[in-house]
Amino acid sequence: MSNFIIIGTQWGDEGKGKIVDLLSKYADFVVRFQGGNNAGHTLIVNDMQFISHLIPSGILQNKICIIGNGMVVDPKVLLKELETLSNIGVEVGPHNLIISEKAHIIMPYHKKIDIAREKMKGDNKIGTTGRGIGPAYEDKASRNGVRFVELLDKEYFRKKITEILKEKNFYLSNYFSSETLSAEDVIDQYSNYADILAPYISNISVVLHNAIKDGKNILFEGAQGTHLDIDHGTYPFVTSSNILAGNACCGAGIGPTEITGVIGIVKAYTTRVGEGPFPSELFDETGNKIQENGAEFGATTGRKRRCGWLDAVMLRNAVRLNGTTGLVVTKLDVLYGLESINICTKYSCNGKIVHDFPASIKDLSVCKPIYETMPGWTEDISEMKKIEDLPQNALNYIKRIEQLAGTPVQMISVGPERDQTITIHNPFKS
Ligand code: GDP
Ligand code: IMO
Ligand code: MG
Repeated sequence: MSNFIIIGTQWGDEGKGKIVDLLSKYADFVVRFQGGNNAGHTLIVNDMQFISHLIPSGILQNKICIIGNGMVVDPKVLLKELETLSNIGVEVGPHNLIISEKAHIIMPYHKKIDIAREKMKGDNKIGTTGRGIGPAYEDKASRNGVRFVELLDKEYFRKKITEILKEKNFYLSNYFSSETLSAEDVIDQYSNYADILAPYISNISVVLHNAIKDGKNILFEGAQGTHLDIDHGTYPFVTSSNILAGNACCGAGIGPTEITGVIGIVKAYTTRVGEGPFPSELFDETGNKIQENGAEFGATTGRKRRCGWLDAVMLRNAVRLNGTTGLVVTKLDVLYGLESINICTKYSCNGKIVHDFPASIKDLSVCKPIYETMPGWTEDISEMKKIEDLPQNALNYIKRIEQLAGTPVQMISVGPERDQTITIHNPFKS
């Protein structure tokens, strides 16, 4: 039995999807435990691309995929994703997709409020994905949410939505001057979703517990990244859930003693979508080159990703917060052709040297990166399969990341396809 959690160490889009897809080969179950369709995980298999927003990235390896109770799910998006998979010949049904009865549901008012709020905030916006994630988690915390178990109880659902919509419509029309929603329309639409999704809904804690008893392997797929975590990220420029490995247990209904290890995914440089401070951000030609070479556009919203150098202050923060047992460095291929490469090792902040990631957004905004410079490499490394093949300078870069993080690098990704991966140590083969 080996149960690993995969998490992003930066601000999301580290390439978690590719690595989850790859390692799913060794797992029996793949579980998403937080977030919703704010995530966009790109899987590329034999030139075919699939972007998963809700369904765990183990689906192309024919594994049993679980939507955990810690997630917020937009049923419309889920059904669209099932259709997309069917169109590319991947049949998904209750035999290989299980939805937690306790997962919360994103309702049309969540999306409307998310978008209206961002518009109203103007320059002070968070830069959310506009998918209703924040408002859905707010309702969960304020005990106004609707879970799948309630969706299936049609009488209760009707009563609950009629009641909730009075408040939401008042807020939408009076505060945002936005259009209101018809209770009947919402109830009809969601009753239809309930009919289709009912066979998928189950008690996933029991399913996973039995799997563990039977010695099965489980892969927990984090979404977003450590520095978007609601507690530990660059608050308020964060998402609305806990992203850290510690939440995998809560968001899936299993105990921490069942976890074998935590794999942190780190992009060889840093990117961020949306607003918020980013100390090692580049505003020059090098930043543009990385953005272009890495095709850094958001997989969910299509927004251009902000790019910068690798930040070891963030990486160390992520290693400590998640208790990572190993790292996977992704997109190393993107850095080829740069004369030199910088790694931020500490910050200078109001005349002081800072080694630990600050909690205050005000402090972080004035932190200046202090760099260590390493020579780059000119070779295209995207077809290299073994660590020995890498140019010495690329290898030195990896070694330095290991040193700065204090965690071994177990895999190196050199391209988006499965076989563009150098495996130093497969965590499932202990
Ligand atoms: P995720 O949200 O962490 O799963 O990452 P995304 O899918 O949003 O973004 C990662 C992007 O980089 C996707 O377009 C991947 O296909 C691509 N990708 C992943 N690994 C590599 C790699 O090693 N090299 C290159 N060039 N692209 C990669
Ligand atoms: P994956 O799983 C990158 C960012 C948004 C915004 C902030 C809040 O693909 O790595 P939200 O819609 O969650 O309320 O937006 O979080 N964000 C992501 N950035 N990758 C993601 O997911 C993200 N999910 C949310 O851009 O800045
Ligand atoms: Mg993504």
